[in-house]
Amino acid sequence: MSSEYINFEGNLFPFVCSIKSLKFCRDEFVVKNNDVILVTYPKSGTNWANDIISLIRCKGDNTWVQSVPIWTRSPFIETAMGQQQICKNEQIEARFYRSHLPIQFFPKSYFHSKAKIIYVMRNPRDVVVSFYHFAKAAKFYKSTESFSEMFEMFCQGNVAYGSWFDHICGWLSLRENGNFLLLTYEELLQDLRGNVDRICHFLGTKLKEEEINLVMKNASFSAMKDNKMSNFSIIPDDFMDHSQGRLMRKGIAGDWKNHFTIAQSEAFDKLFQQRMAGIDQRLFPWEHS
Ligand code: A3P
Repeated sequence: MSSEYINFEGNLFPFVCSIKSLKFCRDEFVVKNNDVILVTYPKSGTNWANDIISLIRCKGDNTWVQSVPIWTRSPFIETAMGQQQICKNEQIEARFYRSHLPIQFFPKSYFHSKAKIIYVMRNPRDVVVSFYHFAKAAKFYKSTESFSEMFEMFCQGNVAYGSWFDHICGWLSLRENGNFLLLTYEELLQDLRGNVDRICHFLGTKLKEEEINLVMKNASFSAMKDNKMSNFSIIPDDFMDHSQGRLMRKGIAGDWKNHFTIAQSEAFDKLFQQRMAGIDQRLFPWEHS
């Protein structure tokens, strides 16, 4: 069983958000200068980036990632539960939290702060495939009978958090800012070491060689898959039907080739070209065909 979405100012959101929590988030939530915020469109490698950042903050030590659920380590600012959690962390010097929000729903206070954002982007073709599988299990996302139904909804932006294209265009407008780091899922797969270095540099964290190795080991697909604090297996049945799917599915780039028909592939290429025409294509390091 999956849920219908709520509509807030023309954008769709899952039921873990409410109109009240979305309004509070945008209009009243106070972002602080030392905050570190992970922002992604869903299914783009959010939880992976989350554990990499968590581990960097702990110099590779996995005690925190193994003992505290991922949604408590970095709560979502758009949900009431996340907001309560962040308030509890008020005393923390550099708070860490995350969001799937399109830029226009993000806290207004962020735009007057020096907070750091790490934004992770993924080939939208793989995003829709991951969404399709995950929505079968996650009751806060709307599932579809067939992949082609999900493909249509995704292309039209009728999915949780709205259009992938709008999300990317909105957030990429900040990419020249010094407090904004753009990462891609594909580059994390290709060169995890180089990207851990980039994140450390961005956060001003110096790690020793052995600490970096621990970050990479403890954030690997197999380590996360076995970590019940990261792999979503302890999410209550009210939110996830664990018999229907899991977060740690394949963890690869290019699985879309096993799902898209030729017609879907051509239609998506056309849509991508139309919607992303104004953006430097070198920012998208994934294979198109
Ligand atoms: P797939 O469904 O394609 O396997 P999000 O965290 O934004 O919901 O994204 C989930 C996707 O990230 C899933 O993709 C999942 O397998 C992948 N993922 C999670 N942890 C990963 C890791 N350590 N290495 C590679 N991929 C990972």
